[in-house]
Amino acid sequence: MSAETQKKAAAEFALKVVENDVKIGLGTGSTANFFITAAAEKVKREKLNTVFVPTSAASYALAQKHGLNLKNIEDVPFLDFTVDGADEIDPQFRMIKGGGGALHREKIVASSSRFVICICDDSKRVETLGKFPLPVEVSKFGVNPTAWKIERALQHLGYTEAKMRLRANAEGKPFVTESGNAIIDLALGKITDAERLEGILNNMPGVIEVGLFIGICGIVMLGTDKGVEELTRK
Ligand code: 5RP
Repeated sequence: MSAETQKKAAAEFALKVVENDVKIGLGTGSTANFFITAAAEKVKREKLNTVFVPTSAASYALAQKHGLNLKNIEDVPFLDFTVDGADEIDPQFRMIKGGGGALHREKIVASSSRFVICICDDSKRVETLGKFPLPVEVSKFGVNPTAWKIERALQHLGYTEAKMRLRANAEGKPFVTESGNAIIDLALGKITDAERLEGILNNMPGVIEVGLFIGICGIVMLGTDKGVEELTRK
């Protein structure tokens, strides 16, 4: 079964939370897109009053095209669920997110939700985070000194083989997030101290958001070749 089929199956499995009087954060990315499209069909079919809060312009546009009832996070500060994808997820449900560049808004919306559901294909499940480069959103002002501080911290933490890259867009220009920031991707190989790394990076002037989502996700709906597995954090 292809990754796309697994993503779609996981997204459709998550439809069980789309009900009347429920507020749902919408993630960003291809898996979240499957959820948005399927949720729109369910809402229309069952005439539901579900409210949705998107985490990016792309998710907003897709949800709007399908006629979902959209609100922004300022108007709906407490959500029942957020349904979003991940770049990697480990057995403790710690995730790397931000492959699509939406990590800042995704983290704000997810952390405002009672339950965060990760929908993903089997390839996202890892024993140890870090094969996927860790996105760090940084202020464009002082991007070079911030990068230098990150490099020093990584050396100090023992990531001597770490590679850092300023993310570029399709035209080869620096990628700019919807909050107007840059992203530095950290290729670390294996992240052995996710909490410590997150804390150190978060404390650094110039760092806006770290793509480690720790203690946020409680439920995983994992698309596999044998169907969708629902897992709950212990
Ligand atoms: C976007 C994200 C996405 O959830 C992550 O990149 C997974 O994307 P996809 O569902 O396309 O595999 O964090 O910032």
